[in-house]
Amino acid sequence: METFALVSTFVVIALVFVTTLSTGASPTPTSPTVRRTMMTLLPKRLPNPNCVIYELGAGWGGLALALARRYRSHAVVGFEVSLIPWAVARLRLAMFGPANLSLHRRNFMTELLSDATLVTCYLPPEAALGLREKLEAELRPGALVITNSFAIRPWRPLDEVIAPDIYASKVYLYEIGAVAKASHVAVGASSEFTSAS
Ligand SMILES: C[S@@+](CC[C@H](N)C(=O)[O-])C[C@H]1O[C@@H](n2cnc3c(N)ncnc32)[C@H](O)[C@@H]1O
Repeated sequence: METFALVSTFVVIALVFVTTLSTGASPTPTSPTVRRTMMTLLPKRLPNPNCVIYELGAGWGGLALALARRYRSHAVVGFEVSLIPWAVARLRLAMFGPANLSLHRRNFMTELLSDATLVTCYLPPEAALGLREKLEAELRPGALVITNSFAIRPWRPLDEVIAPDIYASKVYLYEIGAVAKASHVAVGASSEFTSAS
């Protein structure tokens, strides 16, 4: 029995580790403090209730669950490739709901996001290669993008706040349309998300 527990723990850790190597992002969750800061930056109501909220790289599901509880009239869709965090998030969803949340074990880079009203992510640059271009190509004017810790260069944020956690994590809020102007001005800008300095 002890051997079984030990082997299972090893397999779980190895699975998470291997996926982290392949995506470039560990499943570190957004902390409750940063989550609260993100929520204070977001409007009470999002435009267009028919549009979707996407959590890109939903990890263990904490942020996706919080978004779904706050925006009950919107569908919230989370994409996560890592098996263990995704399975745990699905279990949390099965146990606690809410019904407007769905979690898919898929690569968000292959998903069409054109019906988004809000996109959230907490992704280091290595895990977000090409994501800025994808968002610029697919999102409609007025769609919001909020990120934990990693700014989207050269977009100009609508708002930028330091969370009261021990890392002084930054949260960035962008609006498509407003940011497109800034990105066109920047010549030869990096195609990657860049870490906030
Ligand atoms: C730092 S965690 C953030 C988790 C969650 N968004 C949160 O804020 O609590 C980043 C997650 O993104 C996932 N990820 C990275 N690239 C991905 C991709 N292309 N498609 C789906 N998930 C991805 C990783 O597996 C990891 O769980």
